[in-house]
Amino acid sequence: MALHSSEYEEIERLAISPLYARPRAVQGMPATAIPEDGMDPLVAYNLIHDELMLDGNSRQNLATFVTTYMDHEAKLLFAETSDKNMIDKDEYPQTAEIEARCVRMIARLWNAPEGQSAPGTSTTGSSEAVMLGGLALKWRWRQRRQAAGLPTDRPNLVMGINVQVVWEKFCRYWDVEPRYAPIEEGRLQLNAEEALKLVDENTIGVVAILGSTFDGSFEPVQEIAEALDALAASGGPDIPIHVDAASGGFIAPFLDPDLTWDFRVPRVRSINASGHKYGLVFPGVGWVVWRSPEDLPEDLVFHVNYLGGDMPTFALNFSRPGAQVIAQYYTFIRLGREGYRQIQQVCRDTAMYLASVIADMGPYELLSDGSELPVFLFRLKPEVTHYTVYDVSAKMRERGWQVPAYSLPDNLTDVSGLRVVVRNGLSRDMAELFLADLARATQFLESLSTTLPHDPSHTESFRH
Ligand SMILES: Cc1ncc(COP(=O)(O)O)c(C=O)c1O
Repeated sequence: MALHSSEYEEIERLAISPLYARPRAVQGMPATAIPEDGMDPLVAYNLIHDELMLDGNSRQNLATFVTTYMDHEAKLLFAETSDKNMIDKDEYPQTAEIEARCVRMIARLWNAPEGQSAPGTSTTGSSEAVMLGGLALKWRWRQRRQAAGLPTDRPNLVMGINVQVVWEKFCRYWDVEPRYAPIEEGRLQLNAEEALKLVDENTIGVVAILGSTFDGSFEPVQEIAEALDALAASGGPDIPIHVDAASGGFIAPFLDPDLTWDFRVPRVRSINASGHKYGLVFPGVGWVVWRSPEDLPEDLVFHVNYLGGDMPTFALNFSRPGAQVIAQYYTFIRLGREGYRQIQQVCRDTAMYLASVIADMGPYELLSDGSELPVFLFRLKPEVTHYTVYDVSAKMRERGWQVPAYSLPDNLTDVSGLRVVVRNGLSRDMAELFLADLARATQFLESLSTTLPHDPSHTESFRH
């Protein structure tokens, strides 16, 4: 039905009315049911954009490992390709090709043996990558046990108690007993001795973390591998290692090329990393690569049609955007190894600088110093009793900084610290501003004559 001229006038009147004076802008936001009528896209955009201001500024979020800065050109590609479905290999063959190039580049970065193709895939992040890595370990263990006529009902996985929560999830979802090695004062990660105490014939693998979420430290992959080599050589079980290099997988190859943690260690059968952490891409993309085709059991792999041919896939999700994979490829070719090296070195230098200044402030002591991941953990000295790390964290929030305070896992739950994650984009200038704010916050808390009221929510351990 044609519109009447009065309706045209009404539409025109609304179109030129001031944005925040339009009818929808002076009402509350729909929160429970899809509204009957739509609204002007500009009004909808601005209302949502404004609500999101309450999230704070992601660049001041020193809690997250996830990339918060990308080049303008990367953002352009990201926006242009967010309609591509990663799973539609046949419909988007060039996106599939770019994913395959990234897998090859990452396998080479992690020193996969030459001459055999290292299978791998992009994922939504390290969490999915970890699930896939863990599943391959479980399948391989079961195959070995079945071939030997041995029971397969009690698989276990050995790791430090400091693992990221995704490993706990993996064990619960896939019915694997988690065996956590304890941490202690002065050692916040797994070592060979503790790993050896927990392994047995039912161990599907040992997880070593390159870049512990809690303090940024690298676990000694080579040392753990040598201990497992000796165990196997003495007739014990032959146990593979999966390296959770969620953050370190894009740090160590550029800054510590001589550190042997990757496929140069024969016992390392698979590695995951988050492209959206130090891979320098917005969320969410992760990667998992196996040393050789035999490390990825064929019955975990599904086959999809690709250019009329066959494309093997291994994923928990089906549809997901291709944009992140394309942005990863952009970042690889835009930066090159040298660009990555420079960025990660600046991050490490900034982290170590921040850590050293904080250590000199007086009330703080370092639990790590940013010399592995550009991440450090610090706590209050025992003599500081009238305020806590949670108070420091809350005070820093007043200036927009997000610095999480949390207690360490079992054995050290009485130790609470503050963690700073330095990422690409935290310039020296921003670092100085952060330090000035921390000094002011600390001065204020030091000047208090009474203890601040206790907030019970502050006793939870960190699940980041
Ligand atoms: C060591 C480690 N593994 C796995 C994960 C999960 O990674 P993602 O957020 O990419 O799923 C994290 C996240 O911080 C991590 O630090």
